Amino acid sequence: MTDSLQTVPDHTSVGVPRAGTLDAQWMPFTANRAFKLAPRMLVAAKDMHYTDADGRQVLDGTAGLWCVNAGHCRKPITEAIAEQAAVLDYAPGFQMGHPLSFALAERLADMLPDGLDRIFFVNSGSEAVDTALKMALAYHRARGEPSRVSFIGRERGYHGVGFGGISVGGIQNNRQAFAAQLLPHIGHLPHTHDLEHNAYTHGQPAWGAHLADGLQRMVAENGADTIAAVIIEPVAGSTGVLIPPAGYLERLRAICDEHGILLIFDEVITGFGRLGAPFAADRFGVTPDVMTVAKGLTNGAVPMGAVFARRGIYDAVLGATERGIEFFHGYTYSGHPLACAAALATLDLYREEALFDRAAELAPYWEDAVHSLRGLPHIIDLRAIGLVAGIELEGRDVIGARGFDVFLDCFEQGVLTRVAADTVALSPPLIIDREQVDRLFDALTRAIRRVA
Ligand SMILES: Cc1ncc(COP(=O)(O)O)c(C=O)c1O
Repeated sequence: MTDSLQTVPDHTSVGVPRAGTLDAQWMPFTANRAFKLAPRMLVAAKDMHYTDADGRQVLDGTAGLWCVNAGHCRKPITEAIAEQAAVLDYAPGFQMGHPLSFALAERLADMLPDGLDRIFFVNSGSEAVDTALKMALAYHRARGEPSRVSFIGRERGYHGVGFGGISVGGIQNNRQAFAAQLLPHIGHLPHTHDLEHNAYTHGQPAWGAHLADGLQRMVAENGADTIAAVIIEPVAGSTGVLIPPAGYLERLRAICDEHGILLIFDEVITGFGRLGAPFAADRFGVTPDVMTVAKGLTNGAVPMGAVFARRGIYDAVLGATERGIEFFHGYTYSGHPLACAAALATLDLYREEALFDRAAELAPYWEDAVHSLRGLPHIIDLRAIGLVAGIELEGRDVIGARGFDVFLDCFEQGVLTRVAADTVALSPPLIIDREQVDRLFDALTRAIRRVA
């Protein structure tokens, strides 16, 4: 299942930066001042563990940032990257090509839900989202409906940090500082999280499918001919693991079909086995028109994202231009050779080790472990699906303070977790075993008991 243990280099001897020498880097989504006073540095990783700057082993309960689905520093992936770097380090992707990106697109088309088989490469989830939104506009324009310019997102949605992503996203903190310059013509559906109806649900909540009807109301108010696309995460991850109510995605799909609106699934987190199926679309049996992915595509080893589109979207956009470039969009590093090599090796590894099936088999054990926390202090909800968990704690004086204390306590115990406000979000590599699941939840139990 995993490669033999690597030798961990002694990074302290080559100078891991310590407090006081950290000022130059402006860190992303981090409390910079607090971090730099008490840094938490990771210097190596193998399979299920990080090594921190003090040489401690840290069990990875979050697959990095939801991306290292096959575990860390897997040999087939690191070797593929190294070999590719020595053969073709970079090739321009505009009006030029290289074989690996075409091979990767074919591989992905083969594993995608039926109908999604046109693939555009990008470098991140944020770029995938902006690309998907542009595709939707280009598609409607090509079909002769240029009035369809509105996008509908959802409250508590996270779609990265581009201006497109924060506009359709529904996280107040990510929007507020930039509010004056968000995209126009944006609506938001209500989110589906309701403790009164859904707390401690096993699997998909029974309550909440009717919330999809918010889309029907928006159509009635604004006219279907103004709406280009709806974008949602099938399972919202970054805002605390929100599982779609039974029938909700189906209802959204039906309303979109009825009104010619494109449905975009942002599968940046749910893609590549996280839910015990290749994609959430497979897991829930609902196929979108466009899908965005990143993270698990390369096992996090090289930045890469992709947008999967229905063939009809590609055909319409290409058909609208007689000659020359059809879609004025792309990135210097779209389909980068190292990313393609990493992705192909990653897909091989997922298949050879049947990691998506493994996640499905372990999911009931995982779900039991999550629900075993019921009754601990401060817990107000527990949610699990595939190898994802949301452990929601009651907020304290400042939103997120209690959750962050739990995260710190776990890290002190050698376990990496992640918090979204006061919800602990877990998403381990799919190679995690039962003993490691137990260790993760034992640490969490101790932390939750200790934290005020
Ligand atoms: C659903 C979703 N979309 C988009 C993104 C943005 O991806 P990136 O950070 O690679 O830009 C994320 C990141 O977590 C995500 O969870």
